[in-house]
Amino acid sequence: MNIGLIEKAAEVIRNARYLVAFTGAGISVESGIPPFRGENGLWEKHHPLFMEIEHFKKKPLQSWIKIKETFYDKLIDAEPNLAHKVLAKMEERSFLESIITQNIDHLHQKAGNRYVYELHGTYRQLVCMECRSEYEISFANLNYLPPTCYVCKGILKPDMVFFNEPLPAFAQKRALVEARRADVFLIIGTTAEVLPAAEIPEEAQKNGAKIIEINIRPSHFTHTITDIFLEGKATEVLMKLGEYLYL
Ligand code: APR
Repeated sequence: MNIGLIEKAAEVIRNARYLVAFTGAGISVESGIPPFRGENGLWEKHHPLFMEIEHFKKKPLQSWIKIKETFYDKLIDAEPNLAHKVLAKMEERSFLESIITQNIDHLHQKAGNRYVYELHGTYRQLVCMECRSEYEISFANLNYLPPTCYVCKGILKPDMVFFNEPLPAFAQKRALVEARRADVFLIIGTTAEVLPAAEIPEEAQKNGAKIIEINIRPSHFTHTITDIFLEGKATEVLMKLGEYLYL
């Protein structure tokens, strides 16, 4: 970990007018949630077909069995790690304005962040494919799959963005507004491989934001838009950053 660079990043953050964070699966790895790509990556072990919307519509039971095993059985007990907690402290101390996340694990909110925009939805909600009724996950009994709607008996789908589905309009609009307002943009734990989410940090950079990136290895952003690359685990780098911000 390059302490000189961390000190520099802390200085940039201290002087920021409007700091926004953009997070990917890497920030939750140290909460025991595997990433999608790289070692132990989900897509290295499972074909992502069960998360493709047309496949889900055709084979909801087969998809739900994989979705429950892959996400719900893991996320229900997941806790925020030190990286999530430092971001919550940064919001509390008014260093951080908002978080735009690709994660569906709700860990930023669990850590205490209030302004979180979930570009890829959330596992905490289910939505009926027929009448669009929405349910908190606590309503559903996932021992009987696929879960069905109490109103119309339609199949319930996790309110997560499946492949070939559009992003939630509210989150996408808010993310663009936040990215354009940011003068410092903190990217944590993403390969930057998935569009349109990966366009958000580029929008921030186009509008003049200084880009700080935290990752255990370079991403697509590192050699294109990143100004300060802090190599290391999210928990270790953010803990150090937190020290320099006197959190
Ligand atoms: N600390 C920081 N970064 C880490 C850590 C860690 N402890 N562990 C892994 N990383 C980094 C990896 O180097 C990689 O760049 O986190 C990133 C994880 O990449 P992905 O698994 O591709 O996750 P993400 O970029 O969020 O994927 C975007 O793809 O499949 C879709 O919807 C899914 O939201 C997801 C999207």
